[in-house]
Formats: sequence, C-alpha cells, structure tokens
Amino acid sequence: MKPRTILITGGSGKFGRPLVSHFLEMGDRVITTCRSSESLEKILVEFARYGEKFVGIQADLTDPEAVNTLMETLDSQGIRPDCLVNNARSLGFLKIESNGLVGRENFAGEFLLDVIVPYELTMALGRQKNSQLRSVVNIGSMYGTVAANPHLYADPARQSPLHYGVAKAALAHLTKELAVRLSNNGVQVNCVAFGGVEGRVDEAFKQRYAQLCPMGRMLKEDEIVGPVDVLLSDKCSGVTGHTLAVDGGWSVW
Ligand SMILES: NC(=O)c1ccc[n+]([C@@H]2O[C@H](COP(=O)([O-])OP(=O)(O)OC[C@H]3O[C@@H](n4cnc5c(N)ncnc54)[C@H](OP(=O)(O)O)[C@@H]3O)[C@@H](O)[C@H]2O)c1
Repeated sequence: MKPRTILITGGSGKFGRPLVSHFLEMGDRVITTCRSSESLEKILVEFARYGEKFVGIQADLTDPEAVNTLMETLDSQGIRPDCLVNNARSLGFLKIESNGLVGRENFAGEFLLDVIVPYELTMALGRQKNSQLRSVVNIGSMYGTVAANPHLYADPARQSPLHYGVAKAALAHLTKELAVRLSNNGVQVNCVAFGGVEGRVDEAFKQRYAQLCPMGRMLKEDEIVGPVDVLLSDKCSGVTGHTLAVDGGWSVW
C-alpha cells in the first residue's frame, strides 16, 4: 500500500504509542498530538529515528482554538493527512464526586474531548484546502454499547464513570453521522469499541473481568493496533459508519 499521512491524537498514551509506532514501521508518515510538553519531549526522543516521517505537536484539544491552531500548523508545513485516528482522552475528566455523582465540568469535559473534538477535527481535515482525507477511525469503548457492569468494580459508585460510556455512545453515533455526511467526499468513518486493556489494574480486577468476559481475559496491548490498521486499510474500503467491537465478547451476553 502507498505510504499515507496519518494524524493520531493522543500519541503519547497507552493506545497512542503502539499506534504511532506501528504506522511508522509500516512506512507511513505519522503526525501526533499530546497535551503536555513532557509527553511531547518523550515521544520526540522515542521516534526521532524516523526523521521527517514523524511529527509531534503539543496541543490541549480542550482549548477552543486548538483545532484551528493545529490546522494552521499542518497547513504551514503542507501536511494533508489521508487518515485520522481520534484517540486522545483525559483520565482527569473521569473523576466521580465524593457523593457518587458526576460533576458538570467533568461531564462536559469528557464529552468535549470524546465527541466534539473528533467532530471538529474530522470536519476541519475534510474541509482542508486540497484535502486528502480518506479514512477516519474513532477510538470508542464497549461502554458506549453496554452499561458498566457493577460486578466488575470493588466500589461501583465511585469507579465506573457513567459519563465515559455516555460520551462513547455519542461517539459511535457521531461515527454514523459523519460517515453519511462525508460519503460524497469519499471519506470513510468508522469506530473501534475496545474492551479493557490490561496494564493499569490490579490482579483482583483482572480476575473479576475474566469472570465477566466470554474470552475470560482483558485485552493485551498488542491487540490494540490490528483493528485500527485493518479499518484504515484498503481491505475495508467498503466499510463506513461501523463500530467494530473488539472486547473479547464482553458486549455479546
Ligand atoms: N485504556 C483502556 O483500557 C481503554 C479501553 C477502551 C478504550 N480506550 C480508549 O482508548 C483511547 C486512548 O486511551 P488511553 O488509555 O491510551 O489514554 P491515555 O494513556 O490516558 O493517553 C491519553 C492521550 O491523550 C492525550 N491527552 C490528554 N488530555 C488531552 C487534551 N486535553 N488534549 C489533547 N490531548 C490530550 C494525552 O497526552 P499527555 O500524555 O500529554 O497527557 C495522551 O497522549 C481513549 O479514547 C480511550 O477511551 C481505552
């Protein structure tokens, strides 16, 4: 396949780093964003060996001007992405108040980063002068399909953020809306609804997860890249508006 230019938001995170690494290894040019200068410095060092094939940009995407500024940066460097992966998220928004409720600011923040920013960025790239945009993948969650199962959590009221799933459900619907609205421009828009990926949780959590999941385990980090890769490839040229469940069967029973 011809090398592409792929913009991946949140390239310094758990999902972002393996995605950036994979597409660079495939020979694609990868542009990625992260929020903090510390993260940017780390990934600039990590991916320095790819030279001009790798571009790291610091952007707080919750900033109202962030998408415009990012587009100006891309335009000024003559970068016109073929593919977009909307992946960035902030764990900071997933807090639950001591009374067990989701605060308005965190609800709005989660919705902003998970739904509004992917919308704005997709449309901005679709309307870029001489746009090359052909394929968008939104990184979703099984919690956009099914509600959080209280049996998974030691303290369900405080550990399963309701607004996360609500925002991911909206992201799955955004995927359909954008697939329809951008189809005349030849742009495919799809979503991958991932299950939990091991790494940030303790052994007790992993065991409870295994009991509740048909495949009997959490996803492994090396299972993140494949579904995104295939949706961005020519193999899926007939697929748009789809949310692909990659959750070990969590959402089927
Ligand atoms: N982890 C899982 O098990 C899991 C499961 C299902 C779905 N997902 C989904 O996978 C995606 C990636 O999750 P992750 O676990 O990789 O997250 P993560 O490790 O917390 O990484 C988040 C990334 O987003 C960036 N970011 C944070 N706040 C930002 C902001 N305000 N503006 C711009 N960028 C910002 C971070 O940059 P800094 O490094 O500078 O903070 C980082 O690059 C998310 O959409 C998440 O919902 C994750």
